[in-house]
Amino acid sequence: MTTFDLILVGFGNVARRFVALLAEERSVLRRGYGVTVRVVGIATRRHGQAYAAAGLRSYERSLSGSAEAGHHAPLASAQSTATRTFLRDALKRSATAARQRRLVVVETTTLDIADGQPAIGHVRAALAGGAHVITANKGPVAFAYRSLARQADRAGRRFLFEGAVMDGVPVFNLVRETLPAVTVIGFRGVVNSTTNYMLTEMERGQPFDAALADMQARGIAEADASLDIDGWDAAAKAAALANVLLDAHITPHAVDRQGITPATGRLAIDARAAGRRVKLVVSGTREGRQVKVRVALEELPADDLLAGLDGQQNAIVLRTDLLEEFAVVQRSGSVTETAYALLSDLLTITRERATRQSPPPARRRRSP
Ligand SMILES: NC(=O)c1ccc[n+]([C@@H]2O[C@H](COP(=O)([O-])OP(=O)(O)OC[C@H]3O[C@@H](n4cnc5c(N)ncnc54)[C@H](OP(=O)(O)O)[C@@H]3O)[C@@H](O)[C@H]2O)c1
Repeated sequence: MTTFDLILVGFGNVARRFVALLAEERSVLRRGYGVTVRVVGIATRRHGQAYAAAGLRSYERSLSGSAEAGHHAPLASAQSTATRTFLRDALKRSATAARQRRLVVVETTTLDIADGQPAIGHVRAALAGGAHVITANKGPVAFAYRSLARQADRAGRRFLFEGAVMDGVPVFNLVRETLPAVTVIGFRGVVNSTTNYMLTEMERGQPFDAALADMQARGIAEADASLDIDGWDAAAKAAALANVLLDAHITPHAVDRQGITPATGRLAIDARAAGRRVKLVVSGTREGRQVKVRVALEELPADDLLAGLDGQQNAIVLRTDLLEEFAVVQRSGSVTETAYALLSDLLTITRERATRQSPPPARRRRSP
């Protein structure tokens, strides 16, 4: 039985569901994978930080600093620099687990669409400290995939991010684990649940603001809803897909981007009346040495797979050299599915360590 130590950077909806899922799946982890998992460190922005080499027993009490006498870290004022300082210290204290390749940093802070920081810095520090990294944050893979993948390769550690696009529905894992020798040539998809829901509702005559309020009330829209409606979330996902699957080297700012506005409602209604659907479509294609990536409102014929996506449904169609086109469709999404993405990344790491495999180098696109 091997014990994996986790340091959680960010402890919001996703990380909390993830630790609950670890508890729910404890016997699967033990019996199926021969591992136990304990959380040794937690850093948040405003709710404190805690570390205990033997494993934190009560996360909430640890963060409030009221329990676990003798082995919780002093609470620091919680700013980005404080997180980096905490992380470096926690990594040092976990040096043995790092050396034994059983230390994992779980990065679930909020996306900063300006530059992907401070999450990129957290990933770099974690890899430099000998930890593997798993994340549901789109920032690192959308802004800095190539350099982080190289750093992980050099360190012999893993940088995994399945939850960055379509929650736990496999996209990156699918290509990496099950498509040997296949080259992805392009992708198209609907990857933002809030705007797809709003388009579906606006087709039925619901006003823009009411459809958005609905998504906010259900906790689906980003805290800053402009990330969804201005197409930034979709652009970050498109950049992540392009960087990983098409070996692009772009950021969300290089994505040709459109969002939705109240006026989009009229387009959606008219399209629907003509048997067509308006969708916010992400796409990426390689054209020679260039990769073109965009987020655009498209009016699709009814027989397009993407036109059939209602409400919060998402899908990605991959175009490949050997398998032509195929699609992955997500019919439902929830925080459990995102937490599962982290679990699946963790299990990838535990499997590789158990079989003493060295991690495969970051996938590189074959020259055409
Ligand atoms: N929710 C979903 O279903 C979903 C789906 C796919 C991907 N994601 C991605 O997963 C990530 C987490 O989402 P979430 O819903 O869990 O967000 P959330 O509930 O807002 O939690 C974010 C956490 O990050 C912490 N944080 C922010 N900046 C920090 C910093 N500099 N140092 C340390 N901690 C910091 C926050 O601390 P405080 O609480 O103290 O502010 C909070 O604990 C995001 O990047 C999101 O885009 C989420």
